[in-house]
Amino acid sequence: MLQLPHFTCCFLLLLLPLITCSNSKLTTVYDVLRAHGLPMGLLPKGVVDFEVDDAGRFTAHLDQACNAKFESELHYDRNVSGTLSFGRIGSLSGISAQELFLWFPVKGIRIDVPSSGIIYFDVGVVYKQFSLSLFETPPDCTAASGSFEAIGTVSKSKSGKLRSKLNYELGGRYFG
Ligand SMILES: *[C@@H]1O[C@H](CO)[C@@H](O)[C@H](O)[C@H]1NC(C)=O
Repeated sequence: MLQLPHFTCCFLLLLLPLITCSNSKLTTVYDVLRAHGLPMGLLPKGVVDFEVDDAGRFTAHLDQACNAKFESELHYDRNVSGTLSFGRIGSLSGISAQELFLWFPVKGIRIDVPSSGIIYFDVGVVYKQFSLSLFETPPDCTAASGSFEAIGTVSKSKSGKLRSKLNYELGGRYFG
């Protein structure tokens, strides 16, 4: 039977932490999503950095604020943060979903465990449902132009102004 010399074993044991260390550095935010049973495509391409702590609180930094097209459109701020648990992201900030020309902040995302093939976006009053298969891979994300304000982040009177501004712009385009 083959017997490794004693020093080889010691050498390997010394090497082990180094290997696991360098592995954890290679982990991407997409791996972290998958480890929580969530699809990688919830975050777009262009994540340059991310942090996650033991409680699952994470922040992902994108190279730019951008929009990605699914069934509807999603807007990503430069910093997206939330709390991960299995099949769920809570306390989400930095993602908004478009509905009838208005943007609503997505406050949470969850899937059924075991999976039903549906993913739910909590946009405040309702859960928007999408097919899970839409989020299999990180989407391309195109730079969001100008300043951006989601409806839930502005006061009532201000969102009224935003709405009339939208109407004005749409009207302008229509008549222009
Ligand atoms: C995004 O995160 C970076 C690094 O933590 C921070 O410096 C920056 O101010 C944040 N940007 C916004 C818009 O919150």
